[in-house]
Amino acid sequence: METVGRSTKKATVESTKISNTKIGNLPGVGPTLTKKLQEAGFSTLKSIATVSIGELMALGNLGEKISGKIIQAARDTLGFGFVTADAILESRRNMLRATTGADALDDLLNGGIETRAITELYGEFRTGKTQLAHQLCVTCQLPPTLGGFNVDEKKPISCVYIDTEGTFRPERIVAMANRFRNDLNVQTVLKHIFHGRAYNSDHQMVLVENVIKNAQSKNNKLLIVDSLISHFRAEFIGRGTLAARQQKLNQHLHSLLKLAEMSNVAVIVTNQVHSQPDMFFGDPTMPVGGHVLAHVSHTRIYLRKSKGERRIARVVDSPLLPESETVFAITENGIVDVS
Ligand code: GTP
Ligand code: MG
Repeated sequence: METVGRSTKKATVESTKISNTKIGNLPGVGPTLTKKLQEAGFSTLKSIATVSIGELMALGNLGEKISGKIIQAARDTLGFGFVTADAILESRRNMLRATTGADALDDLLNGGIETRAITELYGEFRTGKTQLAHQLCVTCQLPPTLGGFNVDEKKPISCVYIDTEGTFRPERIVAMANRFRNDLNVQTVLKHIFHGRAYNSDHQMVLVENVIKNAQSKNNKLLIVDSLISHFRAEFIGRGTLAARQQKLNQHLHSLLKLAEMSNVAVIVTNQVHSQPDMFFGDPTMPVGGHVLAHVSHTRIYLRKSKGERRIARVVDSPLLPESETVFAITENGIVDVS
């Protein structure tokens, strides 16, 4: 048993080493091309092996033939194929979880919001999507023993908040961080949240691409997109534009997915709802974004209003969690358990 455990660990260490191999070692990739690829944000074999030819052509400003060759060389070196379940289990041990600030909500989520995944918060207006997003920017900066992502205090983690609606409020971060003032310095918390106001869907996508580009050098462990679809909905009006919108959204979502999985980042997206008119039983409220988003979100959390400060959170779709719900409250100091 002991030997099996050790060999799995060795295999993981080896595969991490190969994944982080510099791209300059690939056949046909010289120093000039290496520099070009690095400037485009590709610094490891894994980042090249998982990209599409079209993406490499666009981001690296390269021709189709050379892009295909580079990707193939990276895939051959990594030996992409099947991985045994025990190796996946081992790699999932690097996954981190951040507390939401409410025990009941953490229990619902099997310990909190996780890295390597996209978590979608959807619900009507004022249901707490933005408040929970703010709260996670604070709690993720706690050390793991207290429910955060800050594994190494000498190399503090950062969060990125992509704000499409202009609703980010640093005052709320201060109020929420004050609750944890014994364990967190409020000024430090503020300094590790990078806010980017996105003015349209292209801008939103560029901001995400920038985060991916800098993923190696910055220690970002949380990326918020609040809200994911508002610009896409506003820009693509009418049935005729739906296919184009979904195509663009799909591209955006795959960038987010790549960031989550390759850089061990927790991606949180907020989403709006619409009412399904042909539904006669149950709650007709559905998240917008269609199948494209449904396929990419690992965990979907539906937020609803209850009495006063109370809100109900329901896990709707998760590969790991049962469908169930709980109650929490939004207070001056953020997301808390109902007293
Ligand atoms: P939309 O972006 O409009 O779709 O809504 P949302 O789901 O993002 O709503 P948000 O997270 O902004 O939640 C707003 C709710 O949080 C409101 O009901 C506010 O009353 C509540 N809230 C915000 N700040 C405070 C506060 O300081 N104290 C208390 N008690 N509640 C607050
Ligand atoms: Mg909001």
